[in-house]
Amino acid sequence: MFTFRLLALVAMLLGAAGVRAADSVGTSMRLLPDEPIRPLPEKIEFNAAKAALGKRLFFDTRFSRDNKVSCANCHDFAKGGADGRARPVGVDGRVGMINVPTVFNSGFNFRQLWNGKAETLEHQIDLVITNPNVFDTSWTSVLAKLSLDAELVRDFKNVYLGGLSRESAMDALAEFERSLVTPSRFDAYLRGDANAISAEEKQGYARFKSYGCIACHQGINVGGNMFQVFGVVRPYLKPDDADFGRYLVTGRDSDKFVFKVPSLRNVARTAPYFHNASAASLEEAVDVMFKYQLGRSAPRADKTLIVKFLNSLSGQVPSHALAEK
Ligand code: HEC
Ligand code: HEC
Repeated sequence: MFTFRLLALVAMLLGAAGVRAADSVGTSMRLLPDEPIRPLPEKIEFNAAKAALGKRLFFDTRFSRDNKVSCANCHDFAKGGADGRARPVGVDGRVGMINVPTVFNSGFNFRQLWNGKAETLEHQIDLVITNPNVFDTSWTSVLAKLSLDAELVRDFKNVYLGGLSRESAMDALAEFERSLVTPSRFDAYLRGDANAISAEEKQGYARFKSYGCIACHQGINVGGNMFQVFGVVRPYLKPDDADFGRYLVTGRDSDKFVFKVPSLRNVARTAPYFHNASAASLEEAVDVMFKYQLGRSAPRADKTLIVKFLNSLSGQVPSHALAEK
């Protein structure tokens, strides 16, 4: 219990630090004070010309060795920015090991990927190009294909001094990703609109805080700002499980089964759950969290309220992301 309290305290402090940065972006009206979850900025500053180029690349299948898979295949905007599958399907129909997280709001994660291997969005793009289960290619061959496209080459030249290159392609994609911000009813509530969420959703949020979910899922992304063991109270994963999480990045024993706490924004749209897709429904995922992360049980009614609250985190996909390519 003591460790948990300590963890909660540290988490709150971390959350509070993230807040100020977020607040300075928007012109917040009557922001609810001292909430451990902070609203998305009201206005996202991004370079529209770069993001438009990034959007074209996001849907471009020339990124995969077999010219069949684009980022959007696995990060479908109609599926909460994920793919709705347990396991992703990449080049040559190869099936990956890890459940697809949403690409929405990923610019607010402190690291990218479940194990945090990618420090930045740009770094993630580098990794996915060569990943044998995703694109299985190289920048050299992607750029060779893209360079044959006179229109794309011209449009890049108009926006980037150096024209189309690994750096500009990566920059454009990352700019587009940073623009994929999905404000929800819950953000409106945090901004002072008391009627933006229902009475039950408010009760669910209160339970989310009082049971301690908030110790890990907090800040602007309701997650995405720390690493934690999956199985704090009792082991959830087995020693022979394929994915050791952060251990694969650091090689430290203490990092075995440690994962980035995922953002819960749009979580109601991204079943199945967990890095190994071991929970089919949100109800099941919440059960697992109670048992393995908090070490306690709760009345079904409270869990139902929490699931209702989680549904209020489903946001609006920005129109520039949906409009014609
Ligand atoms: C074949 C499916 C597939 C394709 C194609 C794909 N991704 Fe992903 N993406 C994944 C999976 C699986 C993960 C999680 C992998 C991990 O954590 O090890 C992921 C993780 C991410 C993340 C990190 C999100 C987070 O919360 O950590 C971002 C950002 C992302 N992808 C963006 C992209 C972009 C941009 C492209 C195109 C250049 C792309 N992805 C192509 C499957 C895919
Ligand atoms: C000690 C930290 C911690 C606490 C407390 C915690 N979580 Fe989590 N949560 C995590 C981690 C870590 C994961 C990712 C596990 C994985 O897949 O490897 C996660 C995953 C989830 C997921 C699945 C997200 C997805 O996209 O797959 C949901 C839903 C969730 N948590 C909800 C909750 C709820 C509700 C509570 C309170 C009952 C809670 N969590 C408490 C750390 C925590």
